[in-house]
Amino acid sequence: MPVTILAIESSCDETSSSVCVDGKILSNYIANQTVHEKYGGVVPELASRAHMQHIVPVVDAAVRDAGIIMKDIDAIAFTQSPGLIGSLLVGGQFAKSLSLALNKPLIAVHHMQAHVLANLIDDPKPSFPFLCLTVSGGHTQIVVCESPTQMKVIGETIDDAAGEAFDKSAKLLGLPYPGGPLIDKYAREGDPNRYKFPEPQIPGLNFSFSGVKTSILYFLQNAGKSNLYKEEFGATEEEKQKFISENLPDICASIQQRIVTILLNKLKKAALATGITDICLAGGVSANSGLRKGFDEKGKKYNWNTFVPELKYCTDNAGMIAITGYYKYLSEQFADLSVSSTARAEW
Ligand code: KG4
Ligand code: ZN
Repeated sequence: MPVTILAIESSCDETSSSVCVDGKILSNYIANQTVHEKYGGVVPELASRAHMQHIVPVVDAAVRDAGIIMKDIDAIAFTQSPGLIGSLLVGGQFAKSLSLALNKPLIAVHHMQAHVLANLIDDPKPSFPFLCLTVSGGHTQIVVCESPTQMKVIGETIDDAAGEAFDKSAKLLGLPYPGGPLIDKYAREGDPNRYKFPEPQIPGLNFSFSGVKTSILYFLQNAGKSNLYKEEFGATEEEKQKFISENLPDICASIQQRIVTILLNKLKKAALATGITDICLAGGVSANSGLRKGFDEKGKKYNWNTFVPELKYCTDNAGMIAITGYYKYLSEQFADLSVSSTARAEW
């Protein structure tokens, strides 16, 4: 009998639902929330309200688009954590209600495990064990994946996530939220070697991005003349804006290059330390063209087999929750209906 999973993702500002049958994604609906743009970041209360509006039509569309009916569903998977509490509650409570109404088991999914397993959606797939660099708005991790349900985080950020570094840099440049894709866009026309931002010296496989952010802040405050904070360096607001508007592509390309080299240098170190050569990217920042290009080049140089999920499975989506739900179903990792919708998920 085929295994049909209905999945729900609502951890941040995307309401998404997906149906997967025997590990094949049949539908993946995503409702984005534009309401946050003018606030420069996700407003949790507005996010939960938008999830409330979207959840029924999105789940309905995912089921219909997959060509199944509710009684075909074998289990309901939902994102349990990490994420915004109010947002998680909407998807979690909806999943529990469906589980109760259909009398089908519930599967609680860790959002970061799901980002990693997005690499198992399409062919070619990595072989186990593989390494995954997961880069999103809230996390930056290097994970060793031994099997779909056995993973170990061997490196992570000690402060900001890579996506945050992109978004905060964009905010300093006056770009709207989320700024990561805009930095990527302007960087395509810029010279990545024009400006230098420091690479943090963090031991082991951990990352840090807060120093880079501070150096960008001082660099802009000094209208490009220095990365250092000195009172006598400060430019006027007018000089700063003029500098940004005249040099935006080069500034974006240089910021992107620094963030990407921090990520890829640590990934190279992890590959050497573990001896693993099947290597994946995951998470929203893996949509970044500079990261994809650099990853590809490193792969060729070090003989890695490289894998990157299709763009729609990189940013938040329920397809990745569905594939994770499928593997958890096979290993009978079900959640009780009394489980908290927002507790730390097992992974
Ligand atoms: O994985 P994701 O969709 O959500 C979280 O779980 O956080 O990642 C969102 C992050 C945001 O910080 C966004 O700016 C970043 O991914 N992002 C990008 C690009 N596309 C999305 N950053 C750089 N370049 C991109 N093309
Ligand atoms: Zn995510």
